[in-house]
Amino acid sequence: MKINEAQFVTSSADAAKAPAVTVPEYAFIGRSNVGKSSLINALCRHKIAKTSQTPGKTQLINLFRINGGQWYLVDLPGYGYAKTSKVQRAEFSKLITSYILTRKSLTTVFVLVDVRHEPLKSDLEFIAWLGENGIPLAICFTKADKLTRGVLTRNVAAYKKVLQEQWEELPPIFVTSSSTGAGTEEILDYIENTNKELSL
Ligand code: GTP
Ligand code: MG
Repeated sequence: MKINEAQFVTSSADAAKAPAVTVPEYAFIGRSNVGKSSLINALCRHKIAKTSQTPGKTQLINLFRINGGQWYLVDLPGYGYAKTSKVQRAEFSKLITSYILTRKSLTTVFVLVDVRHEPLKSDLEFIAWLGENGIPLAICFTKADKLTRGVLTRNVAAYKKVLQEQWEELPPIFVTSSSTGAGTEEILDYIENTNKELSL
């Protein structure tokens, strides 16, 4: 599948105020600066989500209507960024958890993880929390272009090993780069297949 049309709908500071949708919705989440907005732009082949070198750019729930309303994408604020204030971190965390737990149209949460780093406690805790709450998830490693093929393969394998301690069966895993577009087709195919299954 390709995204032919991506339209910004609205930003919400409160999960309850985000407009309800009746088609599948896919959210992108992860630590601040991991590349959520960039990946959304790479999927859309269009700069629709605001990106920045400074962490904490996305502060609201941003909803995008895709391909004439067949499905929706959601760009969420980053979690766990040490330099934002404690109060702001708590606010983001409340926003994210209430959105994930209450949003009826939410179909899959794509958890983004920077492939250059060792597994981080905050990511592993968040992934475990999704599992405990029965929220379908997939993992997207980001910034794959920043590593050589050898290191990339090693880091992905090491991460999977850690996840296997938590999960009997691993969630879907995508290795992506917003710079090269790697992994974007696979994500879009996954979304297409999920949409098809849901409409059966
Ligand atoms: P917040 O909204 O602040 O939580 O950040 P975000 O997760 O949306 O990150 P964003 O997409 O704004 O990207 C952060 C920085 O990483 C930007 O400088 C991007 O250009 C860079 N970046 C994101 N994805 C990639 C990638 O795949 N490769 C490379 N080389 N840089 C990337
Ligand atoms: Mg962002």
